[in-house]
Amino acid sequence: MLSARSPSVPRLGIACFGPSSRPLFAPTSATVARFSIQSIQNVTTAATTSAGATSRSRPRPALVPTSRSSLPAAQGQVRGKKTRTAVTLGELPLPAASKQLPQGLILAEPLPLEDDEPTYPTVVLQARRSMQKFDGCVLLTRVGGFYELYFEQAEEYGPLLNLKVAQKKTNAGPVSMAGFPFFQLDRFLKILVQDLNRHVAIAEEFPNDAAGKVKSGGLLHDRKVARIVTPGTLIDENFMDPYANNYVMAIHLPAEVESGPPPIEPANMSPEEVDVGLAWLDLSTGYFFTQPTTLSSLGSVLSRVSPREIVLDKEMESQRDHGIMSVLEEERYLVSYSPPGELRKLSDWQSMLEAEIPAHTAEKLTDNEVKAGGLLLHYVGDRLRGLSMKLQPPVRHESLQVMNIDKNSMRALEIKQTNRDGAFKGSLLHAIRRTVTKSGARLLNEWLSSPSTSLEVINHRQDLVFRFLQNEDLRDAVIVLLRRSHDSQRLVQKFALNRGEPDDLLRLASTIKATEDIVGILSSAVSSQPSPETDAQHDDCLSTMIGRIRLDQPLQLAKRIWDAIDEEGLVQQHRIEDSETGEMLALAQEIVKAEGSEADTALLPKGAMAKAASTNAASGRKKPTSLRDFYGEDSEVWIMKPGASPVLARLHAELASLLQDKVALTETLRARLNAATLTLRWTPGLGHICHLRGKDARRSPTAAEDEDTATAPVRTLSSSRTTRSIHQPEWTALGERIDKARFQIRAEEQRVFGALRAHVVYCLVKLRRNASVLDELDIATSFARLAAEQNLTRPVLHDSLASPNSLQTIIIGGRHPTVEGGLAEAGRTFQRNDCLVGAPGHGRAWLITGPNMAGKSTFLRQNALITVLAQVGCYVPADHASLSIVDAIFSRVGSADSLFHNQSTFMVEMLETAAILRQATARSFVIMDEVGRGTTPEDGTAVAFASLHHLLHINRCRVLFATHFHNIADLVAQHRMRLEDGGAVGAVEMYCTDVEEDGQGGFAYVHRLRKGINRQSHALKVARLAGLPEQAIRVAREVLEKSGVDRGSREHSKITHRTAETTG
Ligand SMILES: Nc1ncnc2c1ncn2[C@@H]1O[C@H](COP(=O)(O)OP(=O)(O)O)[C@@H](O)[C@H]1O
Ligand SMILES: [Mg+2]
Repeated sequence: MLSARSPSVPRLGIACFGPSSRPLFAPTSATVARFSIQSIQNVTTAATTSAGATSRSRPRPALVPTSRSSLPAAQGQVRGKKTRTAVTLGELPLPAASKQLPQGLILAEPLPLEDDEPTYPTVVLQARRSMQKFDGCVLLTRVGGFYELYFEQAEEYGPLLNLKVAQKKTNAGPVSMAGFPFFQLDRFLKILVQDLNRHVAIAEEFPNDAAGKVKSGGLLHDRKVARIVTPGTLIDENFMDPYANNYVMAIHLPAEVESGPPPIEPANMSPEEVDVGLAWLDLSTGYFFTQPTTLSSLGSVLSRVSPREIVLDKEMESQRDHGIMSVLEEERYLVSYSPPGELRKLSDWQSMLEAEIPAHTAEKLTDNEVKAGGLLLHYVGDRLRGLSMKLQPPVRHESLQVMNIDKNSMRALEIKQTNRDGAFKGSLLHAIRRTVTKSGARLLNEWLSSPSTSLEVINHRQDLVFRFLQNEDLRDAVIVLLRRSHDSQRLVQKFALNRGEPDDLLRLASTIKATEDIVGILSSAVSSQPSPETDAQHDDCLSTMIGRIRLDQPLQLAKRIWDAIDEEGLVQQHRIEDSETGEMLALAQEIVKAEGSEADTALLPKGAMAKAASTNAASGRKKPTSLRDFYGEDSEVWIMKPGASPVLARLHAELASLLQDKVALTETLRARLNAATLTLRWTPGLGHICHLRGKDARRSPTAAEDEDTATAPVRTLSSSRTTRSIHQPEWTALGERIDKARFQIRAEEQRVFGALRAHVVYCLVKLRRNASVLDELDIATSFARLAAEQNLTRPVLHDSLASPNSLQTIIIGGRHPTVEGGLAEAGRTFQRNDCLVGAPGHGRAWLITGPNMAGKSTFLRQNALITVLAQVGCYVPADHASLSIVDAIFSRVGSADSLFHNQSTFMVEMLETAAILRQATARSFVIMDEVGRGTTPEDGTAVAFASLHHLLHINRCRVLFATHFHNIADLVAQHRMRLEDGGAVGAVEMYCTDVEEDGQGGFAYVHRLRKGINRQSHALKVARLAGLPEQAIRVAREVLEKSGVDRGSREHSKITHRTAETTG
């Protein structure tokens, strides 16, 4: 970007706009396709005769597995002259698939090769080799201003990417190709990587040195795969989700693990035994984590981390029936396989980290974690093809105190997306997110999937929210400054990966400035606190934040950036680039017009058309001119200020004086040649020329050698009717000096930029720490805004380890964070409800009955969600909340069939229930909604009661239990589990919701919870509401009157005389 841009002349022969006559392949499956090189036969007709038809009839190249090892080495078939620069057709490996074709097909033999046989051009040949070397990847080859696909990949992906596939004529026969302009790389990467989950190898151009030029037969550039982009290894692609981390995770399984059934299958009774190691990182921020876990908990960890890509040891590729595969398949994780690599010890990681691994982390890392980390770093390093990276030292998740939300609860509670359609709107995150920075939003996302269990951490977060709630001006001021900061986590990481551009430097500098200003206003807020004795504690929380920010070095960096970078120059530079993009598109448009159809024109990007059109219009529909022309070569755009370095200052002075010389020389030459229109120019074809126009151009110029001697003729280089170009040695000499000065300035700019980049890397740790403080401030101010907006309350949390015998969830006047908003939109109000599980005099388990649609499920979830919010540090939708910290939330809610995995509703229900009964501790909070629904009422009741019994006797946790089976209430009474029965397990209290009838067939739901059991489901009312035909309702009522209601009322009287409870 900094270098003088070589005017990137697009090549006219570009395939994407050419006509196509190829048959198209159908889209392939979403798994990583492994390409058969079979279809090369389509184009290498000289080599094969019949197999081409076979490959065309295969819609999925993935069906024909190929592996590199099965390909004959290219060298093995080298024939012909020693000093060739291109390789012959026969040197291309034979299609491996041909070996696997069923017998009976006539296999094509390569034809005997002649010495002077036709060859592929080097670029195509290199592409073929790279396609083999990086099998499983889609190869994009940079050629001039375009990225191109070749051979069978052009045929397969051209149509998928909406690109024309054309036949490039080569000496060795036609080659399929498709391509797009370089500046559309992100757009196509998005489709290939993000949407199709492909791995994309990008071969970039590198200038050839003299030897390379000779070897390649005069090519200016060599092409090498510079990076492999996979869904989990994105760096700064602009299609990345700014609001979520982009993790790639390696899972290490100990070798001795037997492959067996899926770990959640009932047959496998002790899957916890299998320890696995996890390591995951986000290349865009440099975050790096490890965690030991077990195969049975893997699903939940995965749902918490949501990795975009999972890496397993190559060895696992053949173990399709391994227990881990079903865990990964269930959520359709994208899996890549990689050799383990050589990074076996922690010390091997160091070069990839920005700082030492802290000793206390290093000590604790298990062998499995280290192996997972080694595999991960090897894989990522390989994707980056040697690009240096600086990650943050790994943080062990084990040592973080976080609440466990298992994957079913994550889904059931709709924390990040809705259960039904996976939409973001309607989720808890959507309802509470008010952050103004992208990295703040990402942190909130992380916090919501792993709320804290540390009282200290939660209190600190709440203190900050309190502070910003109290002081609205302070809050608004901080928010304004946060908006001014940029996504510094991702910004900084760009530099850590040796990327980053002058714009990024400026963004970084303004972020540092915003940070300084934030420190300023926070500090004055701390010192101007009116009543220090009452608010000392809250001052502390601001001071803690200020104390974590390090400004000295970053400010020096910011100053250096501002001193060096010429913002105005940068803006000009971008204008020029935009205009060049416009030129390129205008050109593309012309090609399409000349060669393509209307449809091709429609394929060009939309904005581009306008831009291209305006470029054309501006130049009077002549060949497009660039802004560079407009500025002229003498007012070249520089992006560094001359003061950026002494050398730069000297070079600019030199250039200025040379330009003065040029003015003087122009005068001299005008006089000498007697040509007033003379200007001094440079053209690519003629070099430094004197340019004459009009009448000066019409006569052959002569130069006065000196005042009074005869004139000598001057040779004309080129002339037209109105212009003429000639050489003058003085201008050639001066012009060359000017060029040299310019070149030196560019080089020095590069050097200064490199130094600035190094300075960023030097400040890396501090910049990242500052960024995380800003993220936390973003969340704190956003929570304060939310609290003010929605009238939320600060919950009081209690350390559940300190008082294990009085674990309570007291929520008075609780509301559901998302349902309330939904009702409000519809003009309805939400009925507040209290939850007092574990409170003295109230049960530890609440058994909730009631009609359909009266709010049981809503009540269950709202209390779980309030618990999550409280432990994230957010205020909660309730009048009052006093909560003992929860170590895990479990929910068995709804019944999502998993027929795809051959599991019935009831099986899914039982698997989830089993997981809860096995894992919940006394500190956990469990909500169970209609367990046992998927089977007969008798079986269902039995299983549901057994679950409640187990939770009460064994797990001893806080439980909200909703059911339609009111017989469970009777069983609870029989087993003396009610609160009034007292004793160690007497802990169940009955609550219910209800409907209120108006006596004329109308009714309304009473969403208010009250003590008691409701034995009526009022199902027919709901059925009528839903529009069940009146006849059907009549039949149902008859049936009910004959059996159900009778039985219900019998049981009703039976229980009332025993317990004197209220019923509905
Ligand atoms: N406390 C409440 N106040 C007002 N409306 C509510 C309340 N709880 C639930 N609702 C409404 O009733 C609907 C059904 O609630 P739900 O919890 O699914 O009932 P149930 O589980 O008892 O069948 C919700 O979608 C919501 O619109
Ligand atoms: Mg329900």
